[in-house]
Amino acid sequence: KKIVILISGRGSNMRAIVDACMSQKWPAQIAAVISNKADASGLAYAAGLGIDTAVVVSKEFSSREAFDCVLQQTIDEYSPDLVVLAGFMRILTPAFVEHYAGRLLNIHPSLLPSFTGLATHRQALDAGVKVHGATVHFVTAELDHGPIVAQAVVPVKADDTEDSLALRVLEQEHVIYPQAVRLFVEDKINITGHIVKVSE
Ligand code: GRF
Repeated sequence: KKIVILISGRGSNMRAIVDACMSQKWPAQIAAVISNKADASGLAYAAGLGIDTAVVVSKEFSSREAFDCVLQQTIDEYSPDLVVLAGFMRILTPAFVEHYAGRLLNIHPSLLPSFTGLATHRQALDAGVKVHGATVHFVTAELDHGPIVAQAVVPVKADDTEDSLALRVLEQEHVIYPQAVRLFVEDKINITGHIVKVSE
């Protein structure tokens, strides 16, 4: 299976997936890591491992449609079976999402369906929830609402700040995202309507 990973920044989730793919010898290869920002620090890590990297600078495009069109062309040069959004901070057009239907994964730093959008750790602290976490889901046209593949739960502590909570969640992201991608490349994921079933 061929995987293309999209990032916008430090790419710690991308690193966790790349490392697991290599060390656990998945039936898969990371074909490319693509960023919408030239200064994304994760690019150097991928390049250092000999993985193809590319940049499609989102701010140079006048419309979402134009950007997504070039992004799609860049991705499709690698004929991926799976496209993984790993801290890719762009909302994608319905046409793009449709093109990769059933083969586009994202990680969101909350227990969906709670706390969609941005500043999820702030939202969790403001809501006073006692548990928080992260969700791996398929991407559909409705933001942060696609079929859920995996979730991890962390406690919210009384003295938590956004940063301390984000760090606790991120550690779990690095566990569940590689696990979910591995299930996909091993053909163990079935989507029926909105429900994901994992086979053994
Ligand atoms: C992660 O918390 C991810 O859930 C969120 O943005 C962060 C990206 O971190 N969407 P990294 O680039 O993978 O280190």
